[in-house]
Amino acid sequence: MLDFTFQNPAKILFGKDQVPKVGKEVKKFSERILLVYGGGSIKRSGLYDEVTQILKENGVHYEELPGVQANPRITSVREGIRLCRENNLDLVLAVGGGSTIDCAKAIACGFYHDGDPWDFFIRKARVTNALPIGVILTLAATGSEMNGNTVINNDDTMDKKGIGSPRLVPKFSILDPTYTFTVPANQTAAGVVDIISHIFETYFSANNDAYLQDRMCEAVIKTCIHYGPIALKEPENYEARANLMWASTVALNGLLSTGKRTDWATHMIEHEVSAIYDMTHGLGLAILTPYWMEYVLDDSTVEKLADYARNVWGVSGQDNYEVAREGIRNTQEFFKSLGLSTTLKEEGVKEESLETMAKKATEYGPLGNFKKLETSDVLEILKKAYA
Ligand code: NZQ
Ligand code: ZN
Repeated sequence: MLDFTFQNPAKILFGKDQVPKVGKEVKKFSERILLVYGGGSIKRSGLYDEVTQILKENGVHYEELPGVQANPRITSVREGIRLCRENNLDLVLAVGGGSTIDCAKAIACGFYHDGDPWDFFIRKARVTNALPIGVILTLAATGSEMNGNTVINNDDTMDKKGIGSPRLVPKFSILDPTYTFTVPANQTAAGVVDIISHIFETYFSANNDAYLQDRMCEAVIKTCIHYGPIALKEPENYEARANLMWASTVALNGLLSTGKRTDWATHMIEHEVSAIYDMTHGLGLAILTPYWMEYVLDDSTVEKLADYARNVWGVSGQDNYEVAREGIRNTQEFFKSLGLSTTLKEEGVKEESLETMAKKATEYGPLGNFKKLETSDVLEILKKAYA
């Protein structure tokens, strides 16, 4: 196991009847806040009314940034920074899924930056300070509720880029699974895949000696395999929604990647797909992951892929390659059973953009750690995933 430092200061308030606590949590930091949300799901679910009522009762002044897009745009970030500066707001409260939270995080650090907030994402500026961030989560997927990452799209350059800083970890996150009952089937499925993929990015690692972390990883994947289909069939099944919600948080709050080198190749490739095609992140991952697994399967990786097949899918057999391949087939079948596509072509991706994606994905060097991928490798994976 590699040496590590682990610290995660986010306070989690989990379960039914936690939302009313937002007033008290906010007031620890601020009485003038920016309320950030997406395209309207929180208005339809009643969460908007509940939150704004609580803020008023607690004497918290709020300005609103509505309409944050799925795959959040840098334009919304700029608008949020403007609102904070012009109205002297000093906390950003995100109510929504990963896109809303990520937008809030970029606003929080952009507030202290003299230049354009995109500078952070092209490595022209570093996060040195940020407004406090609060979260009410409505979709189990990204883990953004308990990490310091933000991923933002820029339509002018057709880029999607991420940064991470401990300063962007939310001060508090309220996780009430009942507010995920309204998440539609396609987003529920994509969320399940995103959670599993975050585990893969750390589980499939070149250092294979973090036994404890790997067993915890397998438990999170099995939780998703068990409860994903139940949440799709019974959207208001509390236990299913609660287990998925906590799985999303645990999968990417830093705990499971302690003592490990992580991979992130599949994520980097997917971000290039959703940069150009505005695809749902988890759907892109569902398509790409099995092809990535097949591509990286060789003598150096077969043992780990076979471990995965045996421990997660119960595959038996002596031949590690056969066992590993069966695990990959099961993975793809599972994603398909959630109603997700298996090729990029089905989702309208054009073959001529594959090369651009491969080049952009590797612009800062080869991807991955489980197996290093050059531009030509990434292109091969994209071609296989295409049709
Ligand atoms: O915009 P609204 O109206 O709220 O609708 C959203 C959106 O259309 C809807 N939704 C959310 N909660 C709902 C709901 N609909 C009904 N009921 C609810 N309770 O779902 C749609 C998708 O929302 P979004 O926030 O985009 O989904 P997700 O949480 O999957 O976030 C995806 C974004 O996060 C990034 C992705 O790249 C993508 O941009 N990621 C962020 C990470 C991080 N910060 O750590 C890591 C991830 O790997 C990922 O890259
Ligand atoms: Zn992800």
